[in-house]
Amino acid sequence: MKNTIIAPSILSANFADMGREIDRMVQAGADWIHCDVMDGIFVPNITFGPKMIKDIRKTTSLILDVHLMITEPIRYISEFASAGADYITIQVESTDKVEETLRLIKEKGCKCGAVISPDTPVEVLRKYLPLCDLALVMSVHPGFGGQKFIENSLNKLAELKKLRDEINPNCIIEIDGGITEENVQLVKNAGAEAIVAGSAIFGSKDPKQTIVNMKL
Ligand code: DX5
Ligand code: ZN
Repeated sequence: MKNTIIAPSILSANFADMGREIDRMVQAGADWIHCDVMDGIFVPNITFGPKMIKDIRKTTSLILDVHLMITEPIRYISEFASAGADYITIQVESTDKVEETLRLIKEKGCKCGAVISPDTPVEVLRKYLPLCDLALVMSVHPGFGGQKFIENSLNKLAELKKLRDEINPNCIIEIDGGITEENVQLVKNAGAEAIVAGSAIFGSKDPKQTIVNMKL
């Protein structure tokens, strides 16, 4: 079995101490750093933009997984790519130009991914999967950390895994929202290969142990 990718979400970090927070995750054995970009329009919360990615890029060589929860993300792809993002993922609900945006991400030299919110059916991803390096199932409504895992996401993961195996075996399946040491095995068994976790890792007394447990 492939090694599970653990991607702590900096949404749960102390924004006033980001350099040290990233370092804490590197020391704890994180594989990727998940960066949640929110615009206050597509989601009710606001976080940060390309400048944060650029500054984080200087502090670590870990893969930066940039999750855009913004309206019409095509407007900002160039900026996030030159800021140093490795993966850029976009919400399929945020634009009518999903395919065009995914192509632009690739053109700018990044890996691309499509994300579905809890109310969006997996089937929507079918037409984008051939283009995607990553497909992300949101297991909470995007906007905030610390929410409860939506159980139906397990069915969605299993459905996505089938579709992915059929259409694009190289595409990584990621899950984001409400993942804890308690439910991580369930999402892995259902098909998740990359695990985003914010509060469970940043809030842990021992992030290193939490990451080890999530990788078991
Ligand atoms: C929610 C974000 C998530 C969030 C996860 O909109 O996309 O990445 O940080 O936080 P937890 O793991 O606390 O649910
Ligand atoms: Zn996210």
